[in-house]
Amino acid sequence: MIFIDACLRKETPYTPVWLMRQAGRYLSEYKATRAKAGSFLELCQSVELATEVTLQPIEILNVDAAIIFSDILVVPLAMGLPLEFLAGEGPHFLRTIRESSDIDSLKVSAYKDLDYVYDAISATRVKLPKDKALIGFCGSPWTLATYMIEGQGSKTYAFSKKLAYQNPQLLHTLLSRLSDELVSYLKSQIRAGANAVQIFDSWAAALEPSAYMEFSFKYMLAIAREVKKEYPNTPVMIFPKGVGGLLEYIADECATNAGFEVFGVDWGVSMARAKSILGDRFVLQGNLEPSRLYSHTSMEEGVEEILRVMGNRAGHIFNLGHGMLPDLPRENAIELVKMVQEKTKR
Ligand code: CP3
Repeated sequence: MIFIDACLRKETPYTPVWLMRQAGRYLSEYKATRAKAGSFLELCQSVELATEVTLQPIEILNVDAAIIFSDILVVPLAMGLPLEFLAGEGPHFLRTIRESSDIDSLKVSAYKDLDYVYDAISATRVKLPKDKALIGFCGSPWTLATYMIEGQGSKTYAFSKKLAYQNPQLLHTLLSRLSDELVSYLKSQIRAGANAVQIFDSWAAALEPSAYMEFSFKYMLAIAREVKKEYPNTPVMIFPKGVGGLLEYIADECATNAGFEVFGVDWGVSMARAKSILGDRFVLQGNLEPSRLYSHTSMEEGVEEILRVMGNRAGHIFNLGHGMLPDLPRENAIELVKMVQEKTKR
C-alpha cells in the first residue's frame, strides 16, 4: 500500500493523497446514504451504511486511503453521555462532566460497546482494493474532554480551562480515563483491519503552550506508545490543529521515543516551517487550506507551493490542512487528487 509505505518513509511511485472529511456533505452520494440512515448517528451506527460512505471517496476521488466513517464523539457516547447532532448546530451532549461524581458515573471499558465501529472497519477492509489503506481514528483526550465538559463546541472553553487551572488533578483524572479507553479503542480498530490510525486534536489551540503539553500532547504521546507496544508496524498519525506556535515545544517533547510516525500539519503553518522543525523526525501530512478548493486556480497554486517545499520524495503525504467543507465543489476535489498523483510521479 502506497499510503502505508509513505507513512514509513519508504520510496513510493508518487506522493499519496487523502482528504480529511473526504466522506461528507459535499458529495450527493453521502447525502443520499445519510438520508437513508435517518440521522448522522444512525449512519455511524449502521455497519452497512457506514461502510458504503467510507468507500464513496475511494470510487469518486481515487484517494490512496479511506478513513472509516464515524465520529470522535462516539467514545464519550459509549461512556454514557447521551449525544445529539442538531441540524446546523453541531454536536450536543445532554449531560456534562463538571465534577468528580460525573467522572465516577462514566462507564468503564466503554470501548467494548463500539462493535459497530470495528464491524464497519472489517466490512470495509474486505471491500477495499488491496492497494488502498484503511485509516482508523479517535479524538485526543483533551479534545474529547472539552466536548464532555462544555457539552458542545465552544469559543472560549471556559469550563474546561477553569478546571485546568482550578482543579488540574480532576482534569487529569478525566484525561486518564479517556486515554485508557482510547488505547483499547485504537487497538480494537487495528485488530478489526485498520492499517493506520490518526488521533485528531481539533481543539489543541485552546491552550497556552505549557498547558497544551501537560493536558493534551503528553496524553497523545502516551496513547501512541501504548498502541505501538502491541502493533509496532501500524503507523500512528497525529493531527493537532492550530499549534503553529508550539512546534519547537513539540520537537523537544518528541526528542526521544515519540511513538508516532506522521505529523499532520494544519493550514495555519507553512510547510517550510513544519519541515525545518519536524521534517527530519516525522513524515509530514498536509496541508492545503481547504477553502482553496473554491477556486481551481488557487487550488493549483497551493498544491504547487506545497510540492515545491516537500519535493517529489519520501516524507510527505498530501492532505488538506483541515476538513472538506460542505459546499466545496466536488470537481475540484477530484481534480486535486489527480493533480497531486500526477505532479509527484517519479
Ligand atoms: O474524515 C472523514 O471522512 C471521516 C469521518 C469524520 C467525521 N468526523 C464525520 C462527520 C471524522 C474523522 C470526524 C472527526 C471529528 N468529529 C472531529 C475531528 C476532526 C475535525 O474536523 O477537527 C471533530 C471535532 C468532530 C466533532 C464533530 N462531528 C463536529 C464538530 C461536527 C459538526 C460539523 C459540521 O460540519 O456540521 C460533527 C459532525 C460530522 N462528523 C459530520 C461528518 C461528515 C457532518 C454531519 C452531517 O452529515 O450532518
